[in-house]
Amino acid sequence: MDRASATTDATLETPAGGVAWSARLLTGDARMDGTHVEFAQLLNQILATPEAGQLPLYQTFLQHTRDHFAQEDRWMQATGFTVDNCHTEQHQMVLETMQSVVAHYQSGQTEMLSRMCQALAEWFDGHAASMDAGLAQHLSSVGFDSVSETLADPSRVRHVVVSGCGSVSCS
Ligand SMILES: [Fe+2]
Ligand SMILES: [Fe+2]
Repeated sequence: MDRASATTDATLETPAGGVAWSARLLTGDARMDGTHVEFAQLLNQILATPEAGQLPLYQTFLQHTRDHFAQEDRWMQATGFTVDNCHTEQHQMVLETMQSVVAHYQSGQTEMLSRMCQALAEWFDGHAASMDAGLAQHLSSVGFDSVSETLADPSRVRHVVVSGCGSVSCS
């Protein structure tokens, strides 16, 4: 691999407290995993940037995370999860926290974006392995294609009701 591609791939050089990408983070759903690689790259890029230049990158990361979570929430809705399931609730909580640190940064607490990214890296490790991996397994079990966002046989989810997150740690 040449030097240029190595330095543009933020997942290869993990900054302190960032997401060290590895196979343990794979969920089994290729589209979800692709979104997660982008999440890790954006997060690592912020941590590798001096505090003064982080805000525009953080805004991009925030929008990407809104889309990332909305994508999973949409898939849950399409496959039998209740609107108030705990995976969706966790997404909302994380997004609210991510949004709230922008005001702190703007009022002079410029270390806040790095702190948030480090906390998110730790959170993501568990979330990907539990709630997201559980969702990927559920999508596969009901025959949902995450690329076309369609069900091979809609009757397979007609009687499915999931109010937890579908992972082994949450019933
Ligand atoms: Fe995710
Ligand atoms: Fe998730």
